[in-house]
Amino acid sequence: MAEGKRGKASPAEMRYRALDKFIERYGSRPGGLVRVLQKAQDLFGYLTPEVQVYVADRMCLPIGHVNGVATFYAGFVTAPRGRYTISVCRGTACYVKGAQDIFERFKELLGVDDDGTTADGLFTLRSTRCLGACGLSPVITVNEDVHGNLTADMITPLLDRYRREAEEGEREGVVTDVPHQPDRPGRDPRATPPPY
Ligand code: FES
Repeated sequence: MAEGKRGKASPAEMRYRALDKFIERYGSRPGGLVRVLQKAQDLFGYLTPEVQVYVADRMCLPIGHVNGVATFYAGFVTAPRGRYTISVCRGTACYVKGAQDIFERFKELLGVDDDGTTADGLFTLRSTRCLGACGLSPVITVNEDVHGNLTADMITPLLDRYRREAEEGEREGVVTDVPHQPDRPGRDPRATPPPY
């Protein structure tokens, strides 16, 4: 990665340098691409098209291949996320207990589709597969918080709670622009992985 004109690297250049080092070290190992993309996501917050092209170039891989992996794993993020990521489990146990109604209520109240982020940058809505807490179904997570045994009527108060929390955080001067660190890559076990 080229340096800035006066020899002082910009924050973006420093991130690319760190990524270069990581690729050098782990890129050719088994599972290297997933590790490299995870590192890139940690560094940049999410996998922008530019970052995907950069990784493809550095690892001598077709961009379609890198993009296939970046979009296959639920843990990879290819667009900016809101302060709170709401993951609604739509696995079988949750589905039979009404997860679809919960998901539809979120969509309606937030005005976004699956993987959408609200205009105020507060919430990102995602559907996900079994969260491993079927006994609490239907269950969702909001960042690291787990909420189980939900009904559609509980969604509005829940959103209000996080809106209040965000407002209070801003009043107290808590930094709010730190990107939410996404989960480690998790794969839907029923899906067929891309070849890599
Ligand atoms: S199916 Fe939702 S937690 Fe298992």
